[in-house]
Amino acid sequence: MIDDSSHHCATTRSFEEKYLRFRTAVGTTFRDETGGSTANGWTTVEQVEWLVSVLGLESGDRLLDLGAGRGWPGGLMAQRTGAQLVSIDVPLEALRQGRRGLSEQLERPVLQVCADGRMLPIGDGHFSGVCHADVMC
Ligand SMILES: C[S@@+](CC[C@H](N)C(=O)[O-])C[C@H]1O[C@@H](n2cnc3c(N)ncnc32)[C@H](O)[C@@H]1O
Repeated sequence: MIDDSSHHCATTRSFEEKYLRFRTAVGTTFRDETGGSTANGWTTVEQVEWLVSVLGLESGDRLLDLGAGRGWPGGLMAQRTGAQLVSIDVPLEALRQGRRGLSEQLERPVLQVCADGRMLPIGDGHFSGVCHADVMC
């Protein structure tokens, strides 16, 4: 078994710092000039639409967004399909920043979980679909 816990802590810290930068004037300008984008990766709207069609999600299905950051792309996928979204990420700061946007975007409550995606106590068949965009767990 490979013990990569120190590497993982460093990754978490580096993402935490990254999300804190979104709170600065530059981060706010970026958000405003990209139409309120919550993306923190390279996944495009077209790719999200493709994912939606491949997963075939329907209203009420459960969707897990692993490494969701501030809610992209799970938020858009849940909005388009009516799926129940569960967003998971490690830095709390990412989830905090995503909370308001997701609750404005979606009619139903969003479940955000601060957890390591490599160690989730989730059984087979619990989710109808899983996405992880720009994440290497
Ligand atoms: C480049 S960001 C992408 C965020 C979002 N999916 C997007 O496209 O905007 C990668 C995210 O993966 C998260 N991440 C990395 N390893 C993770 C793990 N083991 N469990 C949960 N989240 C993880 C990071 O904290 C970070 O928020």
